[in-house]
Amino acid sequence: MKAVTLRTLNNFKSADEKFPVITAYDSAFARQVELAGIEVALVGDSLGNVILGYDSTVPVTMDDMLHHTAAVARGNSKSLLIADMPFMSYATAEMTLDNAALLMQAGAQMVKLEGGYWLEESVLMLSQRGIPVCGHLGLTPQSFNKLGGYQVQGRDEDAAQQIFGDAEILQEAGADLLVLECVPTDLATRISQHLTIPVIGIGAGPGTDAQVLVLYDMLGFSPRIPRFTKNFLASTGDVQLALKAYADAVRNGHFPEPEHCFK
Ligand code: KIV
Repeated sequence: MKAVTLRTLNNFKSADEKFPVITAYDSAFARQVELAGIEVALVGDSLGNVILGYDSTVPVTMDDMLHHTAAVARGNSKSLLIADMPFMSYATAEMTLDNAALLMQAGAQMVKLEGGYWLEESVLMLSQRGIPVCGHLGLTPQSFNKLGGYQVQGRDEDAAQQIFGDAEILQEAGADLLVLECVPTDLATRISQHLTIPVIGIGAGPGTDAQVLVLYDMLGFSPRIPRFTKNFLASTGDVQLALKAYADAVRNGHFPEPEHCFK
């Protein structure tokens, strides 16, 4: 695989070709992701759950993210590397800039932030200063206390309209990618068709431009496997084959299947 850039991902969108994204947290798995030819690696703050044993992503710190981002960058030089900004590290525009810069210096090529219209100024600021941004809407796990849990978002018309409007604002402010988590398939499809930037879904149905899964969920290692994920290790028996099977299934439109989606 040649080194993946934003241009590569935009070309996929223009050609209507789907691409896989997977989380990675350490150098060994990051290398496996590169060998499997997966275009995007996300150092997700899900590492709080799956690596560090917390019951949410709220305790994850900037030090945690810097440590794991640097490890992933050492193991993979080809996939585009996105790093999550952890809870409260982007509470103000100034904090966002300082913390995003640290993640980029640790090896990230893009940062991801959870939230909608209130991030407009921060996204604009990052974008103008040359830091690529991935938005994250729908179920935003850092806000699970405010959301009242981990339910599917955007089920009624007002909530769907809010997510749609937030997606437009993030794109307009300069976001380069957008993750939609746990939203009904028809909403995710409408947003993906409307936006010009690639939209990555998780629990968002087959109509998005790309799919992302948490590595430890798709290998069956997580204590609680969400409904929208699939264990690719069970049928392949080998990590490298599991990653390739996932990538192929996304590219061919065979994943997600109806049982992984929400109406
Ligand atoms: O932290 C993470 O792994 C994520 C993905 C679920 C999109 O944000």
